[in-house]
Amino acid sequence: NQLEMELEAIEKGGYEHFMLKEINEQPRSIADCMRGRLDAKNGRLILGGLRDYMNKFQNADRIIITACGTSWHAGLVAEYLFEEFARIPVEVEYASEFRYRNPVINEKDFIIAISQSGETADTLAAIELAKSKGATIFGVCNVVGSSIPRATHAGSYTHAGPEIGVASTKAFTAQISVLTMMALKLGYQRGTLSESRYMQLLSELETIPSKVERALKLNDKVKAIAAEYKDARNFLYLGRGYNFPVALEGALKLKEISYIHAEGYPAAEMKHGPIALIDEEMPVVFIATKDSSYEKVVSNIQEVKARKGKIIAVVTEGDTTVRNMADHVIEIPETEEAFVPLIAVVPLQQLSYHIAVMRGCNVDQPRNLAKSVTVE
Ligand code: AGP
Repeated sequence: NQLEMELEAIEKGGYEHFMLKEINEQPRSIADCMRGRLDAKNGRLILGGLRDYMNKFQNADRIIITACGTSWHAGLVAEYLFEEFARIPVEVEYASEFRYRNPVINEKDFIIAISQSGETADTLAAIELAKSKGATIFGVCNVVGSSIPRATHAGSYTHAGPEIGVASTKAFTAQISVLTMMALKLGYQRGTLSESRYMQLLSELETIPSKVERALKLNDKVKAIAAEYKDARNFLYLGRGYNFPVALEGALKLKEISYIHAEGYPAAEMKHGPIALIDEEMPVVFIATKDSSYEKVVSNIQEVKARKGKIIAVVTEGDTTVRNMADHVIEIPETEEAFVPLIAVVPLQQLSYHIAVMRGCNVDQPRNLAKSVTVE
């Protein structure tokens, strides 16, 4: 009815869809997530939920991360973060596989369960299983007071605010923000991260909201790219290192709201199969920022170009090498390699959003999907 429609319009804050509103909220939601926790100037990083469990966390034999969907992708980013900064081995598990595998878990394992809704049935069941084996369970959730935070020993909320669009956007970047803070804190406490490096990373982390703000300005450029590829039947997303999970997330976003088949792959795996798919009809989205795997990704771009694939590349501002090779470049602000996912995912969210809108899809409520999957 009229009243409901007006209420919804108010909730959308002037945006056409919740998803677009939530994409654009990210500078604020990331800042909200860090507020009261990160104070780079004074070298302070405090995650209240972690305080009582820091000892267990620091002395864990390994970290097991369990989640589904986009939250699982945030978990993959965290694998790189924890291993790089804290040097603790990490396993990232789909909750649905983990719970049915009779996994080896003990009291020295530290389990991190990630969930926007806090109601995902498989993730909840994985938690109960790990708990029954004596492991410590830490939740990274968005919805306050939901089932997962109640089932865990401790946790940190992501504070991204309500996410209405079925496609997760701001919850993803808030999850990564919490996990980044956890990894930095852990690395510092364990001494695997020197004081000076720690301080440097903290101050860079504080700049992320403003860099995401800058990335959002690419919207018109991304929209123009969307218009050119909206009728493609398939998409490939490729990245390496920290950008591999970003590739997976970009592909998932496109699949779920535009119904275009998309695959995310580690760029180096391409030659083991997916390269056979490449022809002049295939758009390939590369995340090719200036980082430790940059040169390798550049050669992967050349391989695709040689087979006439269409190249859309997310690059670091000022990059000229890739600009000369790609059909389109999307330039994002430079940051620490470990923080790139927080920025690089933004144009991929926009790309899927615009393609879905242009195809007339129901962006906020895609077919066959529910915001939280409370059945297995
Ligand atoms: C994300 O865009 C998806 N809709 C979906 O993969 C989601 O991330 C997954 O169902 C997990 O949900 P949760 O974070 O609420 O547990």
